[in-house]
Amino acid sequence: MLTLAAAVVAFQPGLNLSFEQASGQGPVGWRQVRYAGEAAFGYADTARTGRRSVLIRSDQGADASWSADFTVRPFSRYRLSAWVRTEAVEPIQGGRGALINLHGIEGAASQPVTGTQNWQRVSFEFDSGRRDAVRVNALFGGWGRAKGSAWFDDFSLEQLSTADPKLGVVVDASRRSEPISPYIYGQFIEHMGRCIYGGIWAEMLEDRKFLHAAGSTDSPWRFMGGGSMDTESPYVGSQTPRLPAGAELVQDQLELKAGMSYEGRVVLEGEGSVSITLEWEGGRSSTKILNMTGGWYKHPFELRAEKGGPARLVLRAEAPLRVGTVSLMPADNVSGFRPEVLKLLKELDSPVYRWPGGNFVSGYNWRDGIGDRDRRPPRRNPAWTGIESNDVGMHEFIELCRILETEPFIAVNTGLGTPEEAAAEVEYANAPADQGLGRLRALNGDAEPFRVKWWAVGNEMYGDWQLGHMPLADNVKKHRLTAELMKGKDPSVQLIGVGAVGNWSRTMLSEAADQMELISEHFYNQEAAGLLAHVSQPADTIRSIAAAHRQYRQQIPGLAARDIRIAMDEWNYWYGPHVYGELGTKYFLKDALGIAAGLHEFFRHSDIIFMANYAQTVNVIGAIKTTKTEAYMDTTGEVLKLYRQRFAEVPVAVEGEMGVLDVSAAVAKDGSRLTLGIVNGSMIAADLPVDIKGFSPAAGTRSWIITGPDPMATNEPGQPPAVTIQPWNARWEGGRLAIPPMSVVVVELRRG
Ligand code: AHR
Repeated sequence: MLTLAAAVVAFQPGLNLSFEQASGQGPVGWRQVRYAGEAAFGYADTARTGRRSVLIRSDQGADASWSADFTVRPFSRYRLSAWVRTEAVEPIQGGRGALINLHGIEGAASQPVTGTQNWQRVSFEFDSGRRDAVRVNALFGGWGRAKGSAWFDDFSLEQLSTADPKLGVVVDASRRSEPISPYIYGQFIEHMGRCIYGGIWAEMLEDRKFLHAAGSTDSPWRFMGGGSMDTESPYVGSQTPRLPAGAELVQDQLELKAGMSYEGRVVLEGEGSVSITLEWEGGRSSTKILNMTGGWYKHPFELRAEKGGPARLVLRAEAPLRVGTVSLMPADNVSGFRPEVLKLLKELDSPVYRWPGGNFVSGYNWRDGIGDRDRRPPRRNPAWTGIESNDVGMHEFIELCRILETEPFIAVNTGLGTPEEAAAEVEYANAPADQGLGRLRALNGDAEPFRVKWWAVGNEMYGDWQLGHMPLADNVKKHRLTAELMKGKDPSVQLIGVGAVGNWSRTMLSEAADQMELISEHFYNQEAAGLLAHVSQPADTIRSIAAAHRQYRQQIPGLAARDIRIAMDEWNYWYGPHVYGELGTKYFLKDALGIAAGLHEFFRHSDIIFMANYAQTVNVIGAIKTTKTEAYMDTTGEVLKLYRQRFAEVPVAVEGEMGVLDVSAAVAKDGSRLTLGIVNGSMIAADLPVDIKGFSPAAGTRSWIITGPDPMATNEPGQPPAVTIQPWNARWEGGRLAIPPMSVVVVELRRG
């Protein structure tokens, strides 16, 4: 239904349409964007009206814009106009001149102005579609470059009409697609930031193997009363602290839980004894270790904290000695993992975990992570900041998978690593205990082969940020050889090749499809202006990646028959300040809505997307966040949990008009239930007529909702969570379902 409104100037308070509001040296709300070439951006004292306009100038040629986000009403028609003045504007390299346009909407651009022209009005009309915000550009160059100078002033956005679509969907449970692969609910953990260390792993001490010299600015350790680093014959790594009698080695900034026992381990060499004390304000708990003579010895100890809060660990040498390593974990750790994090991981119930990276893997030597944990070398994280203690290696990762009853998915190093070492890693993991590197694995405590089925042959080798990054042709060769050697060790392994939509994926699929079972794609969305625009991003990206792969199947001979499906083995939002360590961004209700709509899009492509690994699980762009003593589910984790627990497995047809909603439906494999998932990524409540065919529901439904008071609602440590799964009373009136604004709901109907 089209409702024509009189032409309304969409005056938006806060929009600085004539550039009169200044902040510092620039206009409020506008930012400078340079796409190519050198451009000078000006905030000019000349204007068509008022006192100010913006300027872009380039002598050599540039493609650049002043850009701002304007709010629009979805499903409406608008006219955008502005005034442009030019001086010697000359388009080059296919550029257009000086114009206005909208980012990412084809055809949404004005005529360009070139040469030297006094103020001229330029305009164009556009439909907002499902958008609630658009990025407006005062553009110089445009699809090429331009030289000269252009001034822009007096933007105006007029709403010409609105055509709210008539909502209504038909869910036809008899038209089924391929079952949703459970691997869509995969996760990804990487050695970076506080994902593993400071997140999942329970070790409380930083740099427990002394990569940095105690007392140096990078070290969390300090000496009291003397001490030095011995680099001649260290216990592990390149140095070991040496303490004279009466000296102390101290680590501050620990955080205790009241009433908790802490189990520790210290490796010492020397004669005499050491006392180990856990100190907190107003109290301490200590133990004395009698040191043995004549070599390095591991000494377990246990301390108990009567009080919670900040604390420090103090090792006091009663006689000269050297300290190899120290470890301290809460005694409730489960095989070295934090129980409060395991609890949440179990709630996520992910069927597969990708590990150990990410960019990290391209500089990782898997052999560093096996053998006696205290003797594994400490290293600088090769791709990120911080220390890799190598406490968590393949055995620990497999143990985590056992605890979580999930499948391991290991990425091998095709960056700085060799094909031979990748094959050796497969042999170590999967060979019987009496063969090859299987013997070493058995010696290291695991006689049973790990039977790792899923292996990534490298990570993002296309990116210049990747260690060992190489041109596509070289990667094809390296992939082929690595895959061949890996399969030579265990023909049953399932290999995931590195892909990236465009020439990279097309070439990998043309030249190496016989050497992979799946191809990987990664994407991260940033923050977009407008709630709906933000929420729509993951689904839009997934749709375009799936479309590209459908095209490759048509273009590349024999590919369709091979059925190489997509492993979207990194996907998420990634923006905002890092408050949970490196890349430790916070999530909000608006991200949760986008992740839900992203899942819906995976369901729609269940025939071609086989796996997806939410990146990442803990702290680092993570679904779970931790403090030193607590863990909680972030907003996006709530959505992943809801769908994993409640949504059925076989997608069924949903047709009709969804408006700003995103509707998905699935039936259980045995047909016993039908679930609907509905995301309302707008601020407006919707009444959705739903017609169900091919399924006769019993009376009554069960439903759940995730919503919050505003798009920026979030879950903070130490505060009641604002965004959680709640039971919901679905209101069906006359076949219409009332959907609250800013919500995701899952409705379950049982067969009658
Ligand atoms: O997930 C964070 C990083 O993003 C990963 O290490 C890398 O693969 C991607 O670029």
